[in-house]
Amino acid sequence: MSMNLVTLLYLVASVCFIQALKGLSHPTTSIRGNVFGMVGMAIAAGTTAALIVKLAQGDAFGLSYVLLGLLVGGGTGAFMAQRVEMTKMPELVAFMHSMIGLAAVCIAAAAVLEPAAFSIADAAGRIPGGNRIELGLGAFIGAITFSGSVIAFGKLSGKYKFRLFQGAPVTFPGQHWLNLGLGLASLFFIVGFWHSQSWLDFGLVLALGFVLGVLLIIPIGGADMPVVVSMLNSYSGWAAAGIGFSLNNSMLIIAGSLVGSSGAILSYIMCKAMNRSFFNVILGGFGGDASAAAAGGAVQRSVKSGSADDAAFIMGNAESVIIVPGYGLAVARAQHAVKELAAKLTEKGVSVKYAIHPVAGRMPGHMNVLLAEAEVPYDQVFEMEDINAEFGQADVAIILGANDVVNPAAHQKGSPIYGMPILEAYKAKTVIVNKRSMAAGYAGLDNELFYMDKTLMVFGDAKKVVEDMVKAIE
Ligand code: TAP
Repeated sequence: MSMNLVTLLYLVASVCFIQALKGLSHPTTSIRGNVFGMVGMAIAAGTTAALIVKLAQGDAFGLSYVLLGLLVGGGTGAFMAQRVEMTKMPELVAFMHSMIGLAAVCIAAAAVLEPAAFSIADAAGRIPGGNRIELGLGAFIGAITFSGSVIAFGKLSGKYKFRLFQGAPVTFPGQHWLNLGLGLASLFFIVGFWHSQSWLDFGLVLALGFVLGVLLIIPIGGADMPVVVSMLNSYSGWAAAGIGFSLNNSMLIIAGSLVGSSGAILSYIMCKAMNRSFFNVILGGFGGDASAAAAGGAVQRSVKSGSADDAAFIMGNAESVIIVPGYGLAVARAQHAVKELAAKLTEKGVSVKYAIHPVAGRMPGHMNVLLAEAEVPYDQVFEMEDINAEFGQADVAIILGANDVVNPAAHQKGSPIYGMPILEAYKAKTVIVNKRSMAAGYAGLDNELFYMDKTLMVFGDAKKVVEDMVKAIE
């Protein structure tokens, strides 16, 4: 395979990736976008594999090593993608980001160790200055991405007892100054590595990157994790692009830049949705108050509870119902039952709309994907800014497995979610809430909405409860 053909195929793959991003920007074109993404990745991976085969001519040992890597990596990826539940996607994404970060670190270390093998050594066997900067920066961002993503993985999975993996922010006095100091020290050693190509400087850059990754993510509280995920996504792209420059691989540069910039734009959009400062996020400084986060559910208070039949009766007699889906709906896989419920209500002449919060669930667009899977018509689905004004006139807001995204605590100063825009379901004439218990949501906070006089709690698994509601509506 000639280098011209390799370049051409990389260009085709890059165009596919750009089309993929364009397609993924709207639910109606998302399937096409995914197909473009898969085709682009197949071309990119196939071309790289063919290139390796060409380069490894005569080196059967090296070639078998690479093929084994492709087989193990590809096989593991396919296995994991098939088994992962939709609700576990954020952890999987954080895990993948950590792998990209680690790959960037390993490639940079290999290039520093054997520059000639990467065709970046000059006649004296030294790495040119420009490459040293790229390697230092790429390895540094990769190290931050790796350790930050490991912490994000732990926080998102919520399964581990280790303090740094808890949803509550970990803060200590002087944290930002420490981060700043470590950042400046890293810069100092990157310049040192550029100047001397010394292993000591390179090692210190890596060590500081790993520590900084942890320190940047631990102060971030549960409800703010969506922004972290998209930010790490962006970091992983820049790490790949940095290494792409060193390896002179145009595919890595283009794909890395696309991931880096689209991740940065997504982080910006998420910041706006969460009412957070973009720079605070990048610098890891926007965690909530740990004590307040831990306070959720400490006090026992009484709520008004009813059955699925009661809720069905109220909705059946309403003129307008707004459905608020949340993480619990995804856990229960109740999207098809919800669509049926909406259809039954519509048949009875009730106006039904869905209200989507940008961070409902555990990944960007989680609720849109879920409703699309059940083929809920797009014209019934409204984003937060388009529907919030309607809650005041709605007869019923029915909240299915959502908690933080409707928590009025977001309006209270001092709350860890203060300032986060919410779906204003509390303004509806009647509020119906379905969840299994009085347990807190992801941010670990109690929710005043559940105790309001006009709120009816219907306890139980969302699928079972919604199916019962469907049966109860004549
Ligand atoms: P949450 O605040 O996590 O609340 C979900 C609620 O669903 C829980 O209170 C839970 O209560 C209930 N639930 C769980 N399983 C259920 C089931 N089988 N049937 C019925 N209810 C069930 O969800 P949310 O309101 O969607 O908010 C999302 C949160 O996750 C936000 O804090 C957001 O910042 C964070 N987050 C979002 C993302 C993205 S990008 N979307 C990523 C990471 C984190 P019970 O246990 O009592 O049933």
